[in-house]
Amino acid sequence: MKTVVCENYEEVCNHAADIFVRQLKDKPDSVLGLATGSTPIGLYDELTRRYEAGEIDFSKARSFNLDEYYPIDPSHPQSYDYFMRQHLFNKINLEKFNIPNGAASDPAAECTRYDMLIDAAGGIDLMLLGIGINGHIGFNEPAVSYPTGTYKVDLTESSIEANSRFFGPDEHQPVTALTMGIGHIFKSKKIVLIISGASKAEIAKKLFEGVIHTDVPACLLLLHPDVTVIIDKAANKGE
Ligand code: PGA
Repeated sequence: MKTVVCENYEEVCNHAADIFVRQLKDKPDSVLGLATGSTPIGLYDELTRRYEAGEIDFSKARSFNLDEYYPIDPSHPQSYDYFMRQHLFNKINLEKFNIPNGAASDPAAECTRYDMLIDAAGGIDLMLLGIGINGHIGFNEPAVSYPTGTYKVDLTESSIEANSRFFGPDEHQPVTALTMGIGHIFKSKKIVLIISGASKAEIAKKLFEGVIHTDVPACLLLLHPDVTVIIDKAANKGE
């Protein structure tokens, strides 16, 4: 695992954007894995800026998002579908994007459909990840076993609490989600994990111990041959 320590969040986003630019220069038809949450927002802003400056072209690329709440209508302002359109897809020329359908009537069938799409695309070339304060990647929550394929997951109290800030007091917050499993994440050729802010210092420290804590899903990344962790100083307090 390669670690890049940045001065601040802006530098994290710039560094990650450099990796995306390089990836699409080397392989314009790359399959990108994309993440939601507050951490990627600055990266998506930077990618938009670079797209507008003609520095990156997404026209041949396609993407798969890690996860989506379930059940949720894609048009719901808190859906990850909505998030991605708002922060990235409406602003760049990426036409072929995929997100698990939070409104699917049969979640198991939706998960199978999503897996087949990823497989048909040849797997993911560059996977972007954030990390939850409980160590989740995508919505692979701490557990004793981890499905390889896309699956419906019960969110932990920690994730529900962490994401409650996005929902209004009277707004229904889903407690389950559809998430890409560890298999597709793991089969990605390259993984970039972005970590920012003091709230992530404790979990980052655990990741950097170099021990596979099986109740910290992100620790499984220690086994992957090509992971770059881009972290700011605020989150990198635990050395
Ligand atoms: P955050 O979420 O960027 O909003 O902290 C990260 C995650 O849960 O993966």
